Amino acid sequence: MRLEVAMRSALSLANHGIGSCYPNPSVGCVILDKSNNLIGCGRTSDGGRPHAELNALSSLQGNPRGGTAFVTLEPCAHKDTTPSCAELLIKSGVKRVYISVKDPDKRTAGKGIKLLEKAGIEVYTGLFSDEASDQNAGFLKRINHGLPSVSLKIASSLDGKIACFNGQSKWLTGKIARTHGHLLRAKYDVILSGINSIIKDNSRLNCRVKGLEKRSPIKVVVDSKLSIPLSSNVINNVKKVPLIIWTSKFSNKKKKKKLIDMGVEVLEIPKNNNNYLDLNYGLKNLSKKGYNSLLVEGGSEIYSSLIKEELVDKIYYYRSGKIIGGDGLSSISSYNLKNLKNAKKFKIFSSDIIDGDILEIWKK
Ligand SMILES: NC(=O)c1ccc[n+]([C@@H]2O[C@H](COP(=O)([O-])OP(=O)(O)OC[C@H]3O[C@@H](n4cnc5c(N)ncnc54)[C@H](OP(=O)(O)O)[C@@H]3O)[C@@H](O)[C@H]2O)c1
Repeated sequence: MRLEVAMRSALSLANHGIGSCYPNPSVGCVILDKSNNLIGCGRTSDGGRPHAELNALSSLQGNPRGGTAFVTLEPCAHKDTTPSCAELLIKSGVKRVYISVKDPDKRTAGKGIKLLEKAGIEVYTGLFSDEASDQNAGFLKRINHGLPSVSLKIASSLDGKIACFNGQSKWLTGKIARTHGHLLRAKYDVILSGINSIIKDNSRLNCRVKGLEKRSPIKVVVDSKLSIPLSSNVINNVKKVPLIIWTSKFSNKKKKKKLIDMGVEVLEIPKNNNNYLDLNYGLKNLSKKGYNSLLVEGGSEIYSSLIKEELVDKIYYYRSGKIIGGDGLSSISSYNLKNLKNAKKFKIFSSDIIDGDILEIWKK
């Protein structure tokens, strides 16, 4: 097996774990014997442990001595209940280790590489580092900046509207694009929505792809006055998928208690200068809890606040051929832009046709 193919396979394995390994990153590991035959592979298990290297070494169908290991993130250097991954690789007898990205977690940060090199292993870093960084963007951002990565998922009309003038928005895109959106949910640790969207759409915000129901991320609703109806789908489902409501300290205490009794976590967060809840504060709180990535599903005001505060890393923009017209709700509500020079800007990453709709991915 060629080394590029081996690392691509490791990335592909890791991709399966995205959204189910937090607080850990999802890592892939492939092991070749000294004749470059594939003899083992693994990824980080759901929940974050065991790590990819241990899973790959446990799957061995040949002798790794003199062989090569490919890992998408630097092997850990810290011992827990099990030896560190760097030590496991040393013990396995591999001669070379290829690493896509260094681990910024200070328990490892360079120490994993040093351990390998000290044991006489040849270490090569940087193979497919862009792909690996993109894959674990959430983990890297949380460790480096104390914030989860934030992606907006927007389903819009051809003319950039997300709902009719009366709030009706089902369905803008076709079935395949909507299923694609559900697959996206399975790849995130947390899903967030504004209170107006919850009231208008009574969304369930879960992953409804057969076999992936358990990959539904925890939910956050931004609701400063605790206006959420107690009969909402997100509350009815709270025993299966946790729900956090971000609210202000001035919201109704009785309703707060009722929600807590029903199993909802209610987090009081401060307001910003616009008398809105401080989303940056909320995101930091998610990061402290170990959540790496957040998918935002509306509505227009929430999208606008996050963009204004420069908290958005990626936009999944699903666009249909339907036209709503000027009285519809804009994808992003106003942010008082007076000069295009000051417009928030994203770069196109990809564009694909999905059964008559288009999915554009835009990155910061
Ligand atoms: N097509 C799509 O992709 C899509 C997706 C989702 C929703 N939608 C549509 O979007 C519409 C709702 O959007 P919307 O813009 O009216 O409301 P929204 O974004 O769902 O909710 C906005 C509300 O959240 C609360 N909030 C608290 N802090 C905030 C902050 N920092 N920034 C922004 N909001 C904050 C405010 O209410 P309080 O002051 O009461 O807290 C605010 O009015 C619905 O018609 C829905 O169908 C479409």
